[in-house]
Amino acid sequence: MYEIVAREDFSDSTFLLEVHHPLLSKAAKPGQFVIVMSHADGERIPLTIADFSPDRGTITLVIQAVGKTTREMQQNNRVGSGLYALVGPMGVPSHIGDAGKVICVGGGLGVAPVYPQARAFKQRGAYVIGIVGFRNKDLIFWEDRFRAVSDELIICTDDGSAGIKGLVTDGIERAIQAHSDIDEVIAIGPPVMMKFAAEVTRPYQIKTLVSLNPIMVDGTGMCGGCRVSVGGEMRFCCVDGPDFDAHQVDFDELMSRLARFRKEERRALERWDRSDNCRLLQEDRDVSD
Ligand SMILES: Cc1cc2nc3c(=O)[nH]c(=O)nc-3n(C[C@H](O)[C@H](O)[C@H](O)COP(=O)(O)OP(=O)(O)OC[C@H]3O[C@@H](n4cnc5c(N)ncnc54)[C@H](O)[C@@H]3O)c2cc1C
Ligand code: FES
Repeated sequence: MYEIVAREDFSDSTFLLEVHHPLLSKAAKPGQFVIVMSHADGERIPLTIADFSPDRGTITLVIQAVGKTTREMQQNNRVGSGLYALVGPMGVPSHIGDAGKVICVGGGLGVAPVYPQARAFKQRGAYVIGIVGFRNKDLIFWEDRFRAVSDELIICTDDGSAGIKGLVTDGIERAIQAHSDIDEVIAIGPPVMMKFAAEVTRPYQIKTLVSLNPIMVDGTGMCGGCRVSVGGEMRFCCVDGPDFDAHQVDFDELMSRLARFRKEERRALERWDRSDNCRLLQEDRDVSD
């Protein structure tokens, strides 16, 4: 068991777990991920290492509860409990080169995985323009952390309740217009966001990297479940990625493959909702008894 030493809930669906794992905390690099089993019968799911602290001997995960496993974790993984298994660090670390000026873009949950890259670029001496996007101001998290590693920070909200009203693509366009010397853009978020971020930078021929999130099974390059098309070639996200050249990625194929098991995912969630393990339902029953 790997003990959960801190938890923070950012919204109804997004939460942070800080997990004690001294070895992993020393080995982790920006861009890498872990495969987690929250309990002995649990599914294995990939989660990005959103932060790591060798001093505290911990890694940090930021999780969005979208289906059976992540909702189960949201319900059960409290401080003092533990994660059953944790494998990593996995994947190729992000290349933190000698770019002089970079834009680091996080859309929604993507703010967490792009943060260690922004920090690493800042530590390398780059001028960092952070762009974070959320549906509204209540969903904003890690603004303070991002601000601390950014020379400029652009906040975008869909409804204009904080920062500029618009999508992160509007923020990217704004930053490019203000700076003609951007060396690199790193954009992490939902696939559709990464697809359109790539289209904004393409005409300017600015190197753009994205971190892909296909469905993974073994995470070791054996099953082919995470295959993605990049520049017309098949690549395995777990061992060749997760970072790839955004201008070469076939995002439409990625999105269609992500939807392949929707029926099974819905059934698993419904089964769990009906089971005695789902505390929400249990609480409803207690109230009506
Ligand atoms: C390298 C990598 C890093 C990731 N990092 C994080 C992270 O830091 N935090 C986090 O919350 N999630 C992350 N994910 C996604 C996470 O693994 C999935 O959300 C999780 O496996 C869903 O499991 P579930 O049983 O809760 O939902 P499921 O029942 O499997 O799916 C529920 C819904 O989520 C969608 N979904 C399923 N898998 C993915 C996926 N891989 N990406 C996007 N949508 C998906 C499904 O289409 C469905 O609509 C990452 C994925 C990869 C490949
Ligand atoms: S998850 Fe099986 S090859 Fe990548």
